Amino acid sequence: MTNHRIALVPGDGIGSEVIPAARRVLDTVAARHGIRFTYDSFNWSCERYVNEGAMMPEDGLDLLRGHDAILLGAVGYPGVPDHVSLWGLLIPIRRGFQQYVNLRPIRVFDGVPSPLREARPGEVDFVVVRENVEGEYGEIGGRSGRGFPEEMAIQEAVFTRQGVNRILDYAFTLAEQRGHRLTSATKSNGIVHTMPFWDELVAERAVLHPDVTWDQEHIDALAAKFVLDPARFDVVVASNLFGDILSDLAAAVAGSIGIAPAANLNPERDFPSMFEPVHGSAPDIAGRGIANPLGAIWSAAMMLDHLGHPEAAVEVTDAIAAVLAKTRVRTPDLGGTATTRQFTEALLELI
Ligand code: NAI
Ligand code: MG
Repeated sequence: MTNHRIALVPGDGIGSEVIPAARRVLDTVAARHGIRFTYDSFNWSCERYVNEGAMMPEDGLDLLRGHDAILLGAVGYPGVPDHVSLWGLLIPIRRGFQQYVNLRPIRVFDGVPSPLREARPGEVDFVVVRENVEGEYGEIGGRSGRGFPEEMAIQEAVFTRQGVNRILDYAFTLAEQRGHRLTSATKSNGIVHTMPFWDELVAERAVLHPDVTWDQEHIDALAAKFVLDPARFDVVVASNLFGDILSDLAAAVAGSIGIAPAANLNPERDFPSMFEPVHGSAPDIAGRGIANPLGAIWSAAMMLDHLGHPEAAVEVTDAIAAVLAKTRVRTPDLGGTATTRQFTEALLELI
């Protein structure tokens, strides 16, 4: 029996509706694979911010540190500015635990019509590897002259050789294990310091991975290609901002943002990694029990894989594919009428 301690942070809105669904799936597969999960739940959220003045306690990272992984729902709620919820919880965890890889797989499943005619089931299957701790989401900058006509804001992007190399090496290695193709997102025509540096490092690291065929695309052209020809991609590597935008676009190409998963990985395993659906807290549907749990469930499958249980992970992704291909049970975002619970139960029956 392998024991894993998991920190659950359901967060806000539908986060607390989809995390219990993911937990049921985890417990079901765990029982079949000799795994035992113990969970600690943390109520860190915008609600906590409103009541106690902070998204999480001062020693929040220390409370998480001893866990094998973190499973997070979503944070953010109307009334609390989004930069408060993001910088008060998600970004400190990603940075404090050196989760410098944000991994976001995209698949068009049989049974989920893509809004794109060209995105046929089975053909679209790629991964966005997003740099997760530096780049455009820098802390360097400031505001001055508040309220005056000359008011200004400056925000510096920070790209380090170490930070770029490690994300590139992760992406090239992943391409070696998948389809041997890598696309780098750039914008070195317009952004004249950081992006040429990024491009140079891509060319340098590519030499170490001769089995991978690679190319680079400017982010604007790449966005168009995601729509026009999504099946051509295998691994797409991108800086923090570009990867954030591209992966939401990719999730929409795949039919619903409610399905898309993400892993925030510390590949060296010095710290726990964090798994979370790509979607936010969806205040427009929160509290109605109709959120699509697949993004959280697929994220839990990525967690199983990371914890050394690839067979259990595949069992979960196979069940996701099966519930979509073989049943008509769907939550409203996919055109159905099922509740989160009904959809989760239909999936559990297929495991
Ligand atoms: P959102 O992802 O919460 O919602 C966008 C749209 O997709 C909404 O119409 C929503 O109902 C729908 N949707 C999302 N997930 C769904 C699911 N599982 N099932 C069915 N429908 C789903 O993004 P939005 O509205 O931009 O942000 C809402 C809040 O969430 C904001 O406070 C934002 O900052 C936060 N947020 C948090 C993230 C995180 O915790 N990682 C990521 C994105 C947004
Ligand atoms: Mg995003």
